[in-house]
Amino acid sequence: MLELRHVNVSFKSECQDKIFGHTRHQVLFDVSLHVKKGTCLGILGESGSGKSTIGRVLCGLLKPDSGKALLEGESIYGSRKGRRKLQDKLSIVFQDYTTSANPRFSVKDIIGEGLMVREWREEKRVDRRKEAERLLTLVGLDESFLDRYPHELSGGQLQRVCIARAVATKPEVILLDEAISSLDAHTQVQVMDLLQFLKEKLGLTYIFITHDLTSITYLCDDVLFLYGGRVTEYLPVKRIGKTSDPYAKALLRSIVTFETSAGEVMV
Ligand SMILES: Nc1ncnc2c1ncn2[C@@H]1O[C@H](COP(=O)(O)OP(=O)(O)O)[C@@H](O)[C@H]1O
Ligand SMILES: [Mg+2]
Repeated sequence: MLELRHVNVSFKSECQDKIFGHTRHQVLFDVSLHVKKGTCLGILGESGSGKSTIGRVLCGLLKPDSGKALLEGESIYGSRKGRRKLQDKLSIVFQDYTTSANPRFSVKDIIGEGLMVREWREEKRVDRRKEAERLLTLVGLDESFLDRYPHELSGGQLQRVCIARAVATKPEVILLDEAISSLDAHTQVQVMDLLQFLKEKLGLTYIFITHDLTSITYLCDDVLFLYGGRVTEYLPVKRIGKTSDPYAKALLRSIVTFETSAGEVMV
């Protein structure tokens, strides 16, 4: 459904070279991936490895220096049609739910932002309050939340509202960039359960960006390991234990130690 082929991305470097002017700092090297419809692709890597940059390329915000970004075979950056198609089909949920929700907006308004996008696309008005109520129920909150403001909600509740806003546009794909990373462990599991439920109910496709391996094994079908802007491993989650990649192995080992020291199940 969504595909990257040999994508390279660089940014203008901060430091200026006396002879050549600004040099460029390459962030992604020959990245290829393929997100199949109805599946969840996990993108895993440490901070600064280029995960969000991949996310930005996939959601049409950053044109790569070279390589292709395709949605259902159509180039995202090559034509207005491809760009429009992407806008119609993709929603995004970011890590920082406190800044991605306007503090002056009520829950109804926050979800309303997504509904406005749908109205504009379908050229049809919806009963925003009623639809916001329905979406709230879908993400496990009741209508009493409609007139609350972000500061009156817990992190988990606010992230549910952001998920409702993402779903409000009726997307086919949702890009989740560290969407659960700022939540405590218990709330993370609840939000992952919600994401899994929505994926099945609405037939969604996910791109799940994280630095946490445990959440990948919980939610994803395939996983891509990113290290220093390069894909070092790309395989089905089921085969994750069989990886030969040193970085992936190191991450797996850290999870085993962590879980056993907590007295939990060993992988
Ligand atoms: N707009 C930008 N301008 C310059 N450098 C950037 C920009 N965005 C990201 N970078 C750099 O690209 C690298 C990867 O960043 P990012 O994709 O945000 O990593 P991650 O999401 O894995 O933490 C980092 O070194 C970061 O400093
Ligand atoms: Mg990031």
